[in-house]
Amino acid sequence: MRIGSRLPFLIAAAAYLSAAPQEGIEKRIDSLLRRMTLEEKLGQMSQSTEMASPITDEIKRQIRAERWGSFLNAGSASDRAEAQRIALKETRLGIPLLFGRDVIHGYRTIFPIPLGQSASWDEELISKAAREAALEATAEGIHWTFAPMIDISRDPRWGRVAESLGEDPYLTSVLGAAMIRGFQGESLNRADSLAACAKHYAGYGAAEGGRDYNSAWIPEILLRDVYLRPFRAARDTGVATFMTAFNTVNAVPATGNRFLLRDILRNEWKFDGMVVSDYQAISELTAHGYATGPRDAARRALEAGVNMEMVSTTYFDHLKSLLQENLAAMKDIDEAVRNILRLKFRLGLFDGRQAAPSPPHGETLTTAERLATESVVLLKNDNGLLPLKKTIARLAVLGPLADSQADQMGTWAMDANARDVRTPVAALRELLGNERVEYTPVWKNSRDSSTAQFAEALRIARESDAVLLFLGEEANMSGEARSRAFLNLPGAQEQLVDELAATGKPLIAIIMAGRPLTFHQTAEKLGAILYAWHPGTMGGPAIAHLLFGDSTPSGKLTISFPRSVGQVPIYYAHLSTGRPPGPNDLGTPMGTPENPKDYTSRYIDLDFTPEYPFGYGLSYTTFRYSATRVSAATLGSAGSVIISADVANTGNRSADEVVQLYVSGPAGGSVARPVRELKAFRRIHVRQGETKAVDFSIRRSDLAYYNNRLEFSAEPGTYRAWVAPDSSRGIPIDFVVK
Ligand code: BGC
Repeated sequence: MRIGSRLPFLIAAAAYLSAAPQEGIEKRIDSLLRRMTLEEKLGQMSQSTEMASPITDEIKRQIRAERWGSFLNAGSASDRAEAQRIALKETRLGIPLLFGRDVIHGYRTIFPIPLGQSASWDEELISKAAREAALEATAEGIHWTFAPMIDISRDPRWGRVAESLGEDPYLTSVLGAAMIRGFQGESLNRADSLAACAKHYAGYGAAEGGRDYNSAWIPEILLRDVYLRPFRAARDTGVATFMTAFNTVNAVPATGNRFLLRDILRNEWKFDGMVVSDYQAISELTAHGYATGPRDAARRALEAGVNMEMVSTTYFDHLKSLLQENLAAMKDIDEAVRNILRLKFRLGLFDGRQAAPSPPHGETLTTAERLATESVVLLKNDNGLLPLKKTIARLAVLGPLADSQADQMGTWAMDANARDVRTPVAALRELLGNERVEYTPVWKNSRDSSTAQFAEALRIARESDAVLLFLGEEANMSGEARSRAFLNLPGAQEQLVDELAATGKPLIAIIMAGRPLTFHQTAEKLGAILYAWHPGTMGGPAIAHLLFGDSTPSGKLTISFPRSVGQVPIYYAHLSTGRPPGPNDLGTPMGTPENPKDYTSRYIDLDFTPEYPFGYGLSYTTFRYSATRVSAATLGSAGSVIISADVANTGNRSADEVVQLYVSGPAGGSVARPVRELKAFRRIHVRQGETKAVDFSIRRSDLAYYNNRLEFSAEPGTYRAWVAPDSSRGIPIDFVVK
């Protein structure tokens, strides 16, 4: 986005700057707390989703009575403006309402699902997309988004991997922070700042069996080293709020979890923002068997440190009587209200904050197309089948996902208009002209197992020079409560590939999905595979340009792709066993058990490696990496080492490459350490024939981890580093930390 075009908004925004520094805010909160009744305090702690459009008289009455501090996913822009007017002008204390909404990967303009965005490894672009989503949302009176979701996700059965930034704590920390900076902008009190929310705190992605909402068992060393890292980074980035998770963590529900919410978040991390529960998660403490009923649930959540209750009403219904019986403490209520009011002050809501003007649509579309382009991962490209030539005479396009505006947006796109979405079919027709593109959806949706249209699909394929097959999962198969026990292509998709393979035509699959799918046998029949996630509003043009080489694939996987569900969980940063399999153990055929031949940690009916490793992604060009170098053989307590390698573009086009630095070690520390961990990365552009030196500066603190005493430090010893194109390759070098 060009600054010039944003000037009018910046000037408008500046007019609403609140001058109140932190100290002033605390005094204003003190004064309000002194004047508030208990009911008014409990109202502030309550968030409702019940705001019909237009607002009913009953809700207006409740707002006047200060029954609610916040609404989520409710009302239209004008309803919100009207509700806010009532809250400010027609209530006893004039406390503004806080409007929250799930602005997850865009508002009007939909960017790729977060898992797709993460595959771009493009911190700046991801931040820019979040900024634009914030501009669109705040223009309609929204103050707060429930994003980013920074749950480490290592189980593709879990439908919410779509909303995550993948399996790696470092990458999730960096990209989550980028989103937070984008949403919140320069300062929370700007009219176009959207308060962010680090969710779901914590361990939600570790749901057993990949079943949503399920229990998580996470030893503290793993909790701190992996699951909490992105949350700590979010806090350090100044995220305004945290949301508690639905699940239990080590048998204690996250929403009633003192250890997480007080010991760590408040006492260790000194977080002074606001904590909201997830949707009805306080009342669900009863279903968990952690509370004896709604009243007990309110008591336990308050005590644990949940400030605002989303949707269920146990706080409002029960805290008063709990207080009277000394089962709840006034100081806990005041603390919760203080955190809520502090957020409202920080957002400038007490100081006349108005909705900022909406950004020009064209700019957001450019960002959406760029991000979609960078998020697509080329998994396979036999004999340089892609890019296709624009001189192609006839192109067959098959599959409902080639032309499904709603599915292309993926999970969480409630504010977008599907009619704005540009599909691949539309983009291909624009690029090649109607006559050269022949399209049939074949099925009603991705789950359809009908073969009735196969004959027609085969006819079109035979009459074409190449076949574009749009495979995958429709939007509604990933996201919340969309766990799967099978990860294969649903419906009759595999069968169609089998039949198409017999035509001998070049087959190119574009897979749209919210998670890694397993398609090992199918992949063998395909000449090329582009993994496009749910790419959002501009996914169609992005894919069309990639197919025809106007752009070059550069996305890399941020979650390991298993060969079959039986390998799950599979992630690159695992510990070694005492009997790690070696290169001789590779090549196990899939499915049919072979004669057991050794005693290593593997399967007898499937390779132990993933189908595609973390960090993997091809390009239309090729890159050659030199051996890894290190600037000094040892690293003391201060200073840093430079770890580097040369990356040569050895193919025939200029392109971006995501260069990754992995480190392992030390050997001989107080705990065993993962075989590799991502420590840094960079997206670089390398011209055809060019070689670029890429160096990463690593301090001792970058190597820190939780040791057996739960201290965070880099223990001395020998470490190993790889500058590599993905987590399975690279030529390593060792260095010593003193
Ligand atoms: C989800 C949250 C979401 C909330 C509000 C819950 O079901 O878990 O991620 O922000 O609903 O819509």
